[in-house]
Amino acid sequence: MTRQGIVVLISGGGTNLQALIDAASVGQLVQPIKAVISNNLDAGGLDRARKAGIPAVALDHRVFSSRHSYDTALAELIDRFDPKLVALAGFMRILSEQFVSHFQGRMINIHPALLPEFKGLNTHQRALDAGRKTHGATVHFVTPDLDDGPNIIQASLNINETDTAEVLASRVLRLEHQIYPEAVALFLDDRLQMIEQGCLLDGKLLPPTGILR
Ligand code: GRF
Repeated sequence: MTRQGIVVLISGGGTNLQALIDAASVGQLVQPIKAVISNNLDAGGLDRARKAGIPAVALDHRVFSSRHSYDTALAELIDRFDPKLVALAGFMRILSEQFVSHFQGRMINIHPALLPEFKGLNTHQRALDAGRKTHGATVHFVTPDLDDGPNIIQASLNINETDTAEVLASRVLRLEHQIYPEAVALFLDDRLQMIEQGCLLDGKLLPPTGILR
C-alpha cells in the first residue's frame, strides 16, 4: 500500500496547523491529516486538532533521557500512521540526523524568514536589526542541518518603518498560512520532489528561492 495522508508535528499554538486543517476541510488537500503530535503537553494546537476530529497525541520530550531515545519513539509513533508527508508546523526541537534520514524527502518545515537568511530563532528582530527592507517565510524540505533543506515556496513582504518584531511576526504569519497549505497540496499531488540538487516541481528544478509568492 502506498503511504497516505499527513502527520503534523507542533509545539505551540498551531495557527499553521489550523491553516492546514482549514485547507483540508475545503478540499485543497487531497489527503487527510491523520494525526497531530506535540512534544509539549500544553500546545494549543492539540485542541485545534481534537476540535477537528483529528487524533492528537502528546509525546513529552522531558520524560526521555536522550535526543536519540525521544527521536526513536517519535519516529515509531509517526510510522504507526504511515503518512505520505510529515509537516513540521512550529515544532521547536532540533531533530537528529537519524530521524531526518528516516523521513528523507517526505518531511517539510515552515520557517519565518527568507531562507537561507536568518535560520534559527528570533528571525523578525534579526531582520529588523540587520536593516532588511524585505522579509518573509519559507517552506522547505527538511535535511539534517537546521533550516537548511531545498526551498519549496517563499513569500515576501516589504518591511514598514513602523514594524516592530511583533507586528512583523503577525504579518509574516499571514503569509505562512497561505504558502504552507499550498506546498502541502503540491506534495500530496505528487508535484514536488527533493533531489540532491534541490527541489523539483513537475520534474523541473526550482531556483534556490523555491516558488516565489
Ligand atoms: C511559525 O512562525 C513558524 O514559522 C515557526 O513557528 C511558528 C509557529 O506558529 N516555525 P504556529 O504554532 O503555527 O502558530
